[in-house]
Amino acid sequence: MDPSTTAEGDEKERGSFVERLLASTGGAFDIFTIYIGDRLGFYRSLGEQGPATSGELAARTGAYERYVREWLEQQTVAGILRVEDENADARSRRYRLPAGHKEVLIDRDSLDYLMPLVQLVAGAVRPMHQVLKAYRSGKGVPYPYYGADFREGQAGMSRAMFLRQLGTEWLPSIPDVHQRLMSDPPARVADIGCGGAWSSIGIAHAYPKVQVDGYDLDEPSVTLAQANVAEAGLGERVCIQRRDAADPSLRGRYDLVTAFECVHDMSNPVGALRTMLSLARDGGAVIVMDERVGDRFTAKGNEVEWMMYGWSVLHCLPVAKADVHSAETGTVMRTDTLKNYAAEAGFCDVEILPIDNFFFRFYRLKALCR
Ligand SMILES: C[S@@+](CC[C@H](N)C(=O)[O-])C[C@H]1O[C@@H](n2cnc3c(N)ncnc32)[C@H](O)[C@@H]1O
Repeated sequence: MDPSTTAEGDEKERGSFVERLLASTGGAFDIFTIYIGDRLGFYRSLGEQGPATSGELAARTGAYERYVREWLEQQTVAGILRVEDENADARSRRYRLPAGHKEVLIDRDSLDYLMPLVQLVAGAVRPMHQVLKAYRSGKGVPYPYYGADFREGQAGMSRAMFLRQLGTEWLPSIPDVHQRLMSDPPARVADIGCGGAWSSIGIAHAYPKVQVDGYDLDEPSVTLAQANVAEAGLGERVCIQRRDAADPSLRGRYDLVTAFECVHDMSNPVGALRTMLSLARDGGAVIVMDERVGDRFTAKGNEVEWMMYGWSVLHCLPVAKADVHSAETGTVMRTDTLKNYAAEAGFCDVEILPIDNFFFRFYRLKALCR
């Protein structure tokens, strides 16, 4: 007999579910207390200025000592910080950020930097009441409702990978695209749904001749992207504009058209892909990077779907539904879904590129089949 159908099986299942939810509660507290430590500069101070007592950390960061003390104790019990002498008086105890946690929490150039993920989660729950309403009404929740945390978290998560891998590993692995980006006359790149524009910046850094036009629908993202471009000193070669990718009046002739992790967010993905097809000059390449989800729904999901479904339920599906007409894609955009969108947009084939990444899959959309 199947143990899950017996009373004993039920009890075991209940016990492990209770354990799981308790662990998840601890995980949620990790996320939101780490968020506090980041926003108030506690980790940066401990990492850069060294260990501190609650009073010292409060003085360094301009916070209130009693709150800081509670946070330091909580972070220690949670295993995120270390205390030098746990038996010391509460105000004399000195806390430090362990070396192994430093890179993850404060080094924004590291591929292991996960603070933006924490910020994204904080952003994802910001419009919870609007999300609940949307589930009932069938309407959507506009992207700006998720606020600066979501926008900046998204850009922060992308930053290191686009600066360190896009132009040095991923694009060089596509010989004809790499060759074109290196050669004369200087190539033109359209980066659709560019968000904070780290992909545009990464391409411009890696290929010193190219001109990149980044397009995004969200005004605050465009402002953020323009600031990032200016800070990177690339204002001459990277231009960011607010445009809807599905707007057929978006014109240009580009050697490479990219869409990083945004097609599934679009209310009209077919319209956007149609624009991308028209933007690619003869021989121009169209590359889409999206989530590396499984080929079909399975009860267990593949190794990234637990996370992708989480984003989808809270953010991507409600955002994609903010327009009156929506393809209602969601984060879990499977390969066949993209292939169908691409075919409807007029592409003749979709190739999966041999770029190895845990979270993302890279597609090359072909205009012509030879
Ligand atoms: C998940 S973010 C990805 C941003 C960026 N490509 C990255 O990888 O960090 C999705 C982006 O797509 C943009 N977007 C959604 N629909 C769009 C549309 N129709 N036209 C242009 N951008 C759009 C959003 O504003 C958002 O910045």
